[in-house]
Amino acid sequence: MGQGFGKDYEQGEGVNTTSNPFIHEVDGERRHVLRCTTAAVALLMGSHTLTASAATVAKGKPLGFTGVPVSSADTLVVPPEYDAQVLYRWGDAAGIAGAAAPAFSADASNNWQEQLLQSGMHHDGMEYFPLDKNPRHGLLAINHEYTDDGLLHSDGMKTWTADKVRKSQAAHGVSVIEVVERAGVWRVMPNSRYARRITGNTPMLFSGPAAGHALLKTAADPEGLQPLGTLNNCAAGQTPWGTFLTCEENWNGYFSAQDKPNPDEARYGLRAKGFGYRWHEFDERFDAVKHPNEPHRFGWVVEIDPQDPTQTPIKRTALGRIKHEGATTTLSRDGRAVVYMGDDERFEYIYKFVSRDKVKPGGYRANKELLDHGTLHVARFDEQGYGRWLPLVHGQENLTVANGFASQADVVVKCRQAADVAGATKMDRPEWVAVHPNTGEVFVTLTNNSNRGQGSQPGRMVNAANPRNDNIMGHIIRWREGKGSPGGSASRLDGDASATEFRWMHFALAGDPNAEKAEYRGTIKGDMYGSPDGLQFDSGGMLWIQTDISTSVINKGAYKNIGNNMMLCADPATGETKRFLTGPAGCEITGVTFTPDRRAVFINIQHPGETASERSDPAQPKAVSHWPDGPAGGRPRSATVVIRRKDGGVVGT
Ligand code: FEO
Ligand code: CA
Ligand code: CA
Repeated sequence: MGQGFGKDYEQGEGVNTTSNPFIHEVDGERRHVLRCTTAAVALLMGSHTLTASAATVAKGKPLGFTGVPVSSADTLVVPPEYDAQVLYRWGDAAGIAGAAAPAFSADASNNWQEQLLQSGMHHDGMEYFPLDKNPRHGLLAINHEYTDDGLLHSDGMKTWTADKVRKSQAAHGVSVIEVVERAGVWRVMPNSRYARRITGNTPMLFSGPAAGHALLKTAADPEGLQPLGTLNNCAAGQTPWGTFLTCEENWNGYFSAQDKPNPDEARYGLRAKGFGYRWHEFDERFDAVKHPNEPHRFGWVVEIDPQDPTQTPIKRTALGRIKHEGATTTLSRDGRAVVYMGDDERFEYIYKFVSRDKVKPGGYRANKELLDHGTLHVARFDEQGYGRWLPLVHGQENLTVANGFASQADVVVKCRQAADVAGATKMDRPEWVAVHPNTGEVFVTLTNNSNRGQGSQPGRMVNAANPRNDNIMGHIIRWREGKGSPGGSASRLDGDASATEFRWMHFALAGDPNAEKAEYRGTIKGDMYGSPDGLQFDSGGMLWIQTDISTSVINKGAYKNIGNNMMLCADPATGETKRFLTGPAGCEITGVTFTPDRRAVFINIQHPGETASERSDPAQPKAVSHWPDGPAGGRPRSATVVIRRKDGGVVGT
């Protein structure tokens, strides 16, 4: 999601030119033995799922594609030796077995019942799950982060009704669709027994330490066990046992809270009228004055089994309640699940959950409670490249009754406050986390933070890990897990994802090398970008970077040379970075996932045509973009796109 919709993004802030020296040139970070990730996952699964790993992908020269220049055109540009197919647009039928497949109405006149059977809006995080031995037949689980109600309804928000609220809620959530390639052409399977839509009203369950706690109880659910719906599903993850983790990010915006929110509400950004969705006017659940516990039922990681459309999605409270950007799972050396998560807001934190139990072979059935027991941690980044994971465990790190935490349920519901008490490092908007498939090195995008260096709080000043004041360009940080001796080489760390210490360095500070201000120039080796957000490794160890430059600054000011949002590919060993695609006007690029043979990459184009206000004028829906339907279409539409090499070769080589 961009910065708008009430996220109080300020432009033109004063620039403090103080900068910290860069302290971290850790050498030898890149030569590590093959660790457990890809190979062990394949062993664990013991089935066709995920077994088509790097071993079956033909070798090609990394970054062998033709790089593309920056672009401000209203079109999707890929290298000339590639083609891009629009696969699943907002309003396209999801292909649910036994249900109608209503056609999209270009004037946005589909009703909410039709929207329930169609793709939601504003596609975001996405994962591909192969179904059988054919690597190019699988399921896509796709997040629909939020809605632009100026585009969603024919007359926008000029009139406001209960049916419009229902349509907006139905356009949120997740799609699971079945996709297949035949003769180079991908399509969404109709009448699929897997296809489903999950929305802002789908019945769900709570599990973990906060399930049934008083803070989760409402009039409609006095046991505090059965929440309804998932919202603002931003990034996502795939578990080694084959499930989809969808993450609730800016959920606070849907609630209308008190004029003067209490400190716990304020810590999560609840406020009167939220971000202006106006759901509370027809759905009292979103009136947080009347239902003060309903906001506690959002901000979680939700586990979905894409293979079972009857499964009830489960909100895993052990992973904490924050504004979850994503949830990236890897394995510890002894086979436990480790989930990395960012809380995307300025000066928020990076978390990791380490499961108590080992992942078992046998898919979801064998691992249904794995994410309910374990230890949540938050990251502290120290000087000279050292870091520590602080446990968020009731009774430890001052998480005591005296400090407002009576139980582990309190710790996870008030996760941000717990991380404050523990002394975590305030970061520049943590977005996606990616784990190198062989080395286990962890990379995180820190998209930007124009408020870094402002105010008087020490935590808001630059620190070693967030080294630039007025950090409008963002950066990517990397670390290797393990206990090292002071002054020792990071390459000696064992890289065990369950470690409580790590050694970090920067991968790149983003920016334009020709920017007027030195602090906007960055350290990228290769093609420039700003505001990195989506981040994913392919199975060959190449790092794919997607950008979310805010519509309020795109192609302007310090961003004037950087163009529309884009996806790049980088070699983590050398830092070399090459631009792979550029998006149409007003869009964000997100949701990168690959088939196991890497003959196809799926991406999402989110909010093409977004205006600076982030809510379109229904009288001029095509004011900024008419992608992907062209001039004959009625309005721009977020869409999943599949990109393949014209010769059928491995993507990115
Ligand atoms: Fe939904 Fe932080 O991007
Ligand atoms: Ca973002
Ligand atoms: Ca994002």
